[in-house]
Amino acid sequence: MKVLEAARLAPSAMNRQPYVFVVTSDREIIQKISLACNQKWDSPTIVAICSFPDKAWVRDDGEEYWKVDAAVAMTNLSLQACAEGLGTCWIAAFKEDEIKKTLGIKKGRVIAMTPLGYPAEEKSSVTNRKSIDELVQYKNL
Ligand SMILES: Cc1cc2nc3c(=O)[nH]c(=O)nc-3n(C[C@H](O)[C@H](O)[C@H](O)COP(=O)(O)O)c2cc1C
Repeated sequence: MKVLEAARLAPSAMNRQPYVFVVTSDREIIQKISLACNQKWDSPTIVAICSFPDKAWVRDDGEEYWKVDAAVAMTNLSLQACAEGLGTCWIAAFKEDEIKKTLGIKKGRVIAMTPLGYPAEEKSSVTNRKSIDELVQYKNL
């Protein structure tokens, strides 16, 4: 609930909160989702974030923010999970139609999923990241 609460509290454009968090601990469903993602994991829970383009804010120039809102919620969820000692892995590589069918989702877009559970083993090293110099640009007038 703490993890879901962190997702619930996420900021969203114009505070539209245009998503739902679909949670399952059903072993059969988790196995089917694992197959649809072509990835093998054995987590006790999966959370899928389903976003609704028609409920999200759209900028004047037409730029849609439903994916961004879902991404922010997923980030909140992942950080809280980490703080609770739980493991997550953002999953975007999946067949959306299959996921929606498996989870019984009729409306909206599944934009991200994560397995959720206590990790079987701790990761010893931090994944490589670009340096601050590569990522930050200071502009002075
Ligand atoms: C938008 C997004 C999509 C991702 N999709 C997948 C995925 O489909 N499968 C996967 O195993 N990891 C996926 N990842 C995890 C990244 O590969 C991972 O976060 C990155 O390699 C850095 O590793 P780290 O999180 O262990 O530091 C995704 C991450 C993001 C942010």
